[in-house]
Amino acid sequence: MVQNQTPDNGAQVQRASWSGKWAFILAAAASAVGLGNLWRFPYLAAKYGGGSFLLVYFILVFTFGVSLLLVETALGRYTGLSAIGAFKAFGKKYAAIGIFASSIPFIITCYYCVIGGWVTKYTFGYVAGMSSEIAGDPATFFTTFITSPVESFIWMYVFMAIVFVVVALGVKGGIEKSNLIMMPLLIVLAIGVAIYTLTMPGALDGAAYYLLPDLSKITPELFIAALGQMFFSLSLAMGIMITYGSYLDKKTSLTSSVIRIGSFDVGVSLLAGLTIVPAAFVALGSGEAVASNSGPSLMFIILPEVFFDMGAAGAIIGALFFVLVLFAALTSAISLTETLVSIVTDGAKLSRRKSILVVFIYLFVMGTFINLGYNGFSFFEPMGEGSTLLDLFDFIANSVMMPIAALATCIFVGWIIKPNALITEIKQSSPLKVEKAWVIMIKFIAPVLIVIILVAFVAAQLGVFVM
Ligand code: TRP
Repeated sequence: MVQNQTPDNGAQVQRASWSGKWAFILAAAASAVGLGNLWRFPYLAAKYGGGSFLLVYFILVFTFGVSLLLVETALGRYTGLSAIGAFKAFGKKYAAIGIFASSIPFIITCYYCVIGGWVTKYTFGYVAGMSSEIAGDPATFFTTFITSPVESFIWMYVFMAIVFVVVALGVKGGIEKSNLIMMPLLIVLAIGVAIYTLTMPGALDGAAYYLLPDLSKITPELFIAALGQMFFSLSLAMGIMITYGSYLDKKTSLTSSVIRIGSFDVGVSLLAGLTIVPAAFVALGSGEAVASNSGPSLMFIILPEVFFDMGAAGAIIGALFFVLVLFAALTSAISLTETLVSIVTDGAKLSRRKSILVVFIYLFVMGTFINLGYNGFSFFEPMGEGSTLLDLFDFIANSVMMPIAALATCIFVGWIIKPNALITEIKQSSPLKVEKAWVIMIKFIAPVLIVIILVAFVAAQLGVFVM
């Protein structure tokens, strides 16, 4: 969908551009929708009290998230450059912000491939008709698998291999087109599974837990989790949306595009949660049990039970469901890997082929390292009992680095280059009715909020107060 694919050598070379407004929205939505919505959001919502998390998450997305999406896409379109160049255009020293933000996908992609391996295993398992084997004792099945010293690695490498074949062949256009079919199918299927789940005895209590906020459960930890999830899910604070904005023509409305992207992403997360959280509630019996048992494994243990309960049809629905999840994971992993390749190409001035090789070796080594956290290195529990290297990397990227990158971006736009430059850019394509609110958001509210959340969170970690 990106036309005139030319290397990003700055202004001399004609830049790639989207073929139209919808091409941009779809590409941004395809980047946004991935494991963040289907795997990460449901377990965080389950863990942080369901409705309470949902409420905070929604408010954050539609105030701060959309504002930041607008900042990033406008900055990209204004400068016509991707992250590092866009900041550097205002002074050499500002390149540091771009470099910092660009380092984040280097962390995310490594563990994304680990989860990608889990999804690949389950997809192949269901397609091979192992539905009852998986569901017999789903927790043991899952744990045995991820802690296995050979099998878990193989599936991760399979996932990586698919990603690299696509990146090397450059068949991204075809992938994005098939996205157009797979995404709606995934949504229809998720709605079907959600409806089925809600008819199970006790599921409505689960839905209430998921949807109704309990204000007493809102803590600094919940806030930081919701904030990190927002960055992760909207692909924010890592320079990617700046690059996407730089491909955009001057006519496409930035304001309506960012609202559409945000709404679509939230919609998919909401639905994924509705498919998984009530089911977990049924299986575990209470909100407290759901909260204390929720983690990265939730999707892989709860869903097989639901599919199994459906009887014969469940085996087919399970297979279809995991195929679609795999697809969403692959498109996001491909786009993440593309990002890494382009950063290496630009930064190290390597050819595309060499960059692909460098990124491949890097992901292979780092993915192997993170996966060892479940077996060889499982004695290392960096974030408390039962936690792994994956939790540590996820935490560093989402809860520490992204808030800092977002803070730096807001200060940069709000106080250094001043919002006016971007306001003119935005107004070229649409009115900005919420101009004042937007300026207040990036100059004051967002920076203050991020600082408060970070400080409160660190203080809580250090035991200054009890959450
Ligand atoms: N938003 C994606 C998800 O929810 C993950 C992601 C973060 C991503 N940054 C990205 C995907 C950049 C593609 C490109 O799964």
